[in-house]
Amino acid sequence: MSDNVKMTALRYDSDRPKAKNPIKIMDLSLRDGHQSLFATRGRTEDMIPVAELMDEVGFWAIETWGGATFDTMHRFLNEDPWERLRTLKRYIKKTPFSMLLRAQNLVGYRNYADDLAMAFVERSAENGMDIFRTFDALNDYRNFETVVKQIKKCGKHFQGCICYTLTEPRLGGDVYNLEYYVERAKALEDMGADSICIKDMAGLLAPYDAYPLVKALKAAVKAPIHLHSHFTSGMSPMTHLKAIEAGVDIIDTCMTPYAYRTSHAAVEPLVMALLGTNRDTGFDIKKLAEINEIFEKQILPKYKHLLDDSKVSIIDINVLLHQTPGGMLSNLVNQLRDMDALDKIDEVYRELPRVRRDLGQIPLVTPTSQIVGVQTVNNVLYDTPDERYKMITGQVKDLCYGLYGKTAVPINPELQKKALKGYPRGEEPITCRPAEVLEPEMEKARAEIGDLAADIDDVILYAQFPVTGRKFLEWKYGRAEVPENVKPITLEAVKKKDEIIKKAKAGQLIERKSDTPAKSPRARTFNVFVDNEFFNVEVDPVGGAPVISGQPAPAPAVSAPPVSAPAQVVVPVAATAPTPAQQVDVSGTLLLAPMPGMIVKYTKNVGDAVMKGDTVVVLEAMKMENALTAPCDGVVKVIQFKSGDTVAKGASLCVIG
Ligand code: CO
Repeated sequence: MSDNVKMTALRYDSDRPKAKNPIKIMDLSLRDGHQSLFATRGRTEDMIPVAELMDEVGFWAIETWGGATFDTMHRFLNEDPWERLRTLKRYIKKTPFSMLLRAQNLVGYRNYADDLAMAFVERSAENGMDIFRTFDALNDYRNFETVVKQIKKCGKHFQGCICYTLTEPRLGGDVYNLEYYVERAKALEDMGADSICIKDMAGLLAPYDAYPLVKALKAAVKAPIHLHSHFTSGMSPMTHLKAIEAGVDIIDTCMTPYAYRTSHAAVEPLVMALLGTNRDTGFDIKKLAEINEIFEKQILPKYKHLLDDSKVSIIDINVLLHQTPGGMLSNLVNQLRDMDALDKIDEVYRELPRVRRDLGQIPLVTPTSQIVGVQTVNNVLYDTPDERYKMITGQVKDLCYGLYGKTAVPINPELQKKALKGYPRGEEPITCRPAEVLEPEMEKARAEIGDLAADIDDVILYAQFPVTGRKFLEWKYGRAEVPENVKPITLEAVKKKDEIIKKAKAGQLIERKSDTPAKSPRARTFNVFVDNEFFNVEVDPVGGAPVISGQPAPAPAVSAPPVSAPAQVVVPVAATAPTPAQQVDVSGTLLLAPMPGMIVKYTKNVGDAVMKGDTVVVLEAMKMENALTAPCDGVVKVIQFKSGDTVAKGASLCVIG
């Protein structure tokens, strides 16, 4: 293509001669960009300053929604996800919107029933979505059937994804080879895909694999080919160029401040690299620079504290070593750190491919990356020399049952049998389209949430996120106070903080005792009188639970889950009363949280009789639900938390005696 470059007369602006076959660009800054770099914490108010300018660039589409945004917005930002869609649509009028849809998983982490899936797609289209980039973690397109029917019915663009994954360092092997991807692309075309996306979520696609892959797909199907390749491993800019040479139609990029690391390559260098060629984007680089400046000066200062700057390097070579998404690796590290087991990371790396193989060599993408990751950590922490898979997560059980779909290769039958022992839906795995065994959900959700939902969008939010969705609706409608930590920060606050940091660096601050704990909202004020002196004292109960006096016996040497400890405990009846609480003696065994997480629900009430092994509480950790079982026979005497509470590792969840 270099023969088309005329080195003289080349202009930066958009008036330059149009290329013969310009590469189309989708911008991801407003979704995958901040999802990858800033834990999806981007707020709508910080998208508005650039929205109109971005509409002028000439992007094929702008990704604005979907993926983790829906979850994060209502859970951590106190923002209504539907409202973002409508708001951005008022500023971005020309450029189509794209969203990431996890097929039957919608924007959550499990397969939802058909009625909910249909309602979600319809409402997304109504609220302004144009392109539905749809993927299934197992590349099982039976999970596309319902949503695709609805996307088409709404007259919208269906983009079908093939999750790109490997079992070897490069394209090939028995499972994920060229034939596999060509066959999947043809299947998508048969389903009516308006475009086909190679979704390289981990940055595994090497440039010299991208070239033959794109060539093969272009030869096999008519639909435009779109490449989504994360930067994580450092290969993606090279991969982009080879894909462009092979004739790829659309490339995903981010604006520079949202680019690189685990995000995507930046658009600006690509615009310059292709300037004057037959694939010239035609973009005005000065316009891009203008957007960059707004991001840099007005917006990013509010987010830079979220950037993982623990490493100088912006490339994660672990991805090249383990063929595993970078996000998954950092989740594993965080999870191990939370459990004081960071020294086991090498064991986790060794165990991970074994777990993946046992689970049918599935691609690693949300939610399968979490499913494989959390199970791997569980195996490393809890397995004993004579028992593997001692603590199987609910999601692994669902996967073994077939609830996520068909795996690339069969699941290890021994593990499958163990996982399905006592599984409530049945011990025999299904082979049909998973949603066929799911009962409708919308009516149930509507009944449960009642008048807290003002419209169908509220119901859909609640149906996918029952615990955090309810909390959000309570904030939204003023039924509960909005906590400080979900409120936005201002540029002024950031500046103040930066000044303090500057002072600290210059040695102008007196160091505070570093072990001073932060004051919680439970702190109570007491007036204390000593002789004639008066003190105002704040007392903050520790642990967020009723204070338990008495000594739990040491945990068993092999801390087989769920962790339990026999104990003679004294529990105050009124947990938060500042007056001395009435004390009752409760003797029994404590069920301790084996990991930090959020209580989804208690499946037993105080007074219920339980048998050893019965599920008592469901704990969400790393987005996986863990059923914690009674460590002994007895009666539930005390329940310490409620649905939605966050608990630390070792928190006593209930007393059974
Ligand atoms: Co992505």
